Amino acid sequence: MSADIDRAVALLRQGELVAFPTETVYGLGADAANPLAVKRIFAAKGRPADHPLIVHLPDAGHLDRWARDIPATAHALANAFWPGPLTLILKRQAGVLDTITGGQDTVGLRVPNHPLALELLRAFDGGVAAPSANRYGHISPTTARHVRDELGDAVAMVLDGGPCQVGIESTIVDLTGERTTILRPGMVGAVDLGRVLGRTPGMGGDDAPRVSGSLAAHYAPRTPLALLQPDVVIFAVRETLAANERLGVIAPMACPISDPRIVWRQIAGEPAAFAHDIYALLRELDGLNCTRLVVQKPPASENWRAVNDRLSRAAAGSGATTS
Ligand code: TXA
Ligand code: MG
Repeated sequence: MSADIDRAVALLRQGELVAFPTETVYGLGADAANPLAVKRIFAAKGRPADHPLIVHLPDAGHLDRWARDIPATAHALANAFWPGPLTLILKRQAGVLDTITGGQDTVGLRVPNHPLALELLRAFDGGVAAPSANRYGHISPTTARHVRDELGDAVAMVLDGGPCQVGIESTIVDLTGERTTILRPGMVGAVDLGRVLGRTPGMGGDDAPRVSGSLAAHYAPRTPLALLQPDVVIFAVRETLAANERLGVIAPMACPISDPRIVWRQIAGEPAAFAHDIYALLRELDGLNCTRLVVQKPPASENWRAVNDRLSRAAAGSGATTS
């Protein structure tokens, strides 16, 4: 075991917060069985106390300690996608803290696919509660540096595992109802799930359990953000130049105009590579004092669902900004 993992485990056992990389985004970890440690997560994030947390496990063999009445579908999904970017909502085992579940009778569980995360979880040999390691409502961090910038001294240690490979948060699937539903889309898509389940799950409705990432405004930069169709992006650039403002643009096409007032970042035109880069780019442009940010709207097809979900929430706080 490396010295860093040693120290991280010791800190977790003392009830301290340890941020760690996963394949999706960085998590803000605490011992999921220690109520005071879990409270610290909410304080560090500024997150409302009734929003439940995902418990991260070293492997599916730990499921029984946290969940009860586990359906066969849960084992099938765990076999197919763990370790990986999929969170399962199951009935909670007696003794799981109310601060973890938000007082609900369910718990969110996931085995992340990152070597450092797995090393940490195996060494800790317990559940680590971890939301994304950002302030509440802000963009999720995909590098150790983002976590430091965002949370500073509120976190005792940040394990650095490089940039996250997936780049957006896990798919959340609710297995506690009559029908299996997706509460939060992610890079494990409905069709992938359907191949294992024998039936493609639909999106959870308004009666679904609370998911903070399903609030209209979330994952958001502080600069107003507009999602625009390709042709409108060019209008926005012209408008900005006329008003002598500073505009940040994220789009797959190359920058058609060279002007210091336009900060242009090219992004891939394919969902996995787009997801990998989008949070880091939004965060970078958010720090450049732009008057506003523009992201070129991706296609409305199923393989872009998770990316479109995050983009629309990131833009939701900025008023009527999609077109
Ligand atoms: O990829 C991820 O899932 C990352 C990494 C760190 O694992 N974590 C993450 O955590 O995105 P967080 O807290 O930012 O988002 C987790 C979402 C929240 O919206 C929460 O409401 C939902 O999971 N959640 C957790 N437990 C739940 C439960 N029992 N029922 C419904 N939703 C739940
Ligand atoms: Mg989050």
